[in-house]
Amino acid sequence: MSRLNERIARLARISATPPDQGITRESYTDLYEEGLRLVEGWMAEAGLTTRRDAVGNLFGRLEGSSPGGPSLLVGSHLDTTLNAGPLDGVYGVLAAIEAVDRLRGSGGAPGRSVEVIAITAEEPRFATGCLGSRALVGDMSAEAARGLTDREGITLAEAMQQLSMEPERIPDARLPDGYADLFVELHIEQGAVLERRGSRLGIVNAIAAPHDLRLTVTGTAAHAGTTPMGLRRDAFLGAAEIALAVEAAARASTTGRTVGTVGAVSVRPGANNIVPGRVEIEVDIRDTDLHAREAVVAEVLSTAEAVCARRGLELDVKTIAQDTPVSCSETVQKAVAEACVECGIEGHVMASGAYHDAMVLARKMPVGMLFVPSVGGTSHHPDEYTDPADLDLGVDVLAGTLRRLAEPAS
Ligand code: GLV
Ligand code: MN
Ligand code: MN
Repeated sequence: MSRLNERIARLARISATPPDQGITRESYTDLYEEGLRLVEGWMAEAGLTTRRDAVGNLFGRLEGSSPGGPSLLVGSHLDTTLNAGPLDGVYGVLAAIEAVDRLRGSGGAPGRSVEVIAITAEEPRFATGCLGSRALVGDMSAEAARGLTDREGITLAEAMQQLSMEPERIPDARLPDGYADLFVELHIEQGAVLERRGSRLGIVNAIAAPHDLRLTVTGTAAHAGTTPMGLRRDAFLGAAEIALAVEAAARASTTGRTVGTVGAVSVRPGANNIVPGRVEIEVDIRDTDLHAREAVVAEVLSTAEAVCARRGLELDVKTIAQDTPVSCSETVQKAVAEACVECGIEGHVMASGAYHDAMVLARKMPVGMLFVPSVGGTSHHPDEYTDPADLDLGVDVLAGTLRRLAEPAS
């Protein structure tokens, strides 16, 4: 087993769930901290100078031979969603350490400084994802951290304080202008495009972005046995109609690529003998085409209003995230394509349906991404798997890509 695959297995053991229920290692937990310390050690072993910023993003820096210019950033995230697999995010960080270790080993320092970064809170423990990246681009504050809550009602600010981080210092995590001018992220595909094509490496040209909403539907909680059907204001039935409207609107979208999901539902009071009085649903709508996505969101919201009016329910709408789809850097795509040829394969140009830290960092610098295949397209699931040989090949291509990009700017 390669060192990379051994380390992936080592991190997978740091989880709040038993192995048959996948890996749960959410951001700002003791388990996450344990994983981060391990990775910090691996960065140091690779000769990288480590530091953490005010929100807990971890950097490992390899100084270039022409210092002073902007860094090239490479990495991903170490936190997981619930009952996840071992590769999402983790692979991109550990592969970056391997690739940079090779850069250092082959002919000394690269021209430009390269920093491996393990970005915190990519997964939406606090409903909004990519929080570490948002801090890096200056789009996070202590006030926002006090408003973001997890499923147990713990705020991001409280979770940070439990790990001795000060929410007031969040603005310090913003990368100064000129600090870095390129971000490269290697990730598992999390879909089945590469596998179906028999391709071993994806060159990402665009990243779909989500518009996420929390809709609260309020009716009247009532006795399920004594309240006649005609006299109910059932909040769940309204929410259920809205969920079906999400599916219909996404299916009817002009691009044919819009996806819409209701992945979180909370029904109150939540007993089988009470007509639901209040239901919250979280809606996630994504596309690489902003206009098509926003048209779907508008359609969902107008249907939701009509449903609630017809059923005598109240509707409250909150935006959880509204990100902009990204076009990836042509320079990175070219470097990846060349590195693929060097490794004897042909990269397949494709869009990313998942969001990634690269989507948020693109607000500050050009970004590029590479994918390796996911067996069965499975991800956000315990069965997430990529052939270890493909994981190793991804490192080869990443190393070739970084070598091309880390030459000093002429
Ligand atoms: C990332 O985890 C996503 O949900 O796309
Ligand atoms: Mn994920
Ligand atoms: Mn990920």
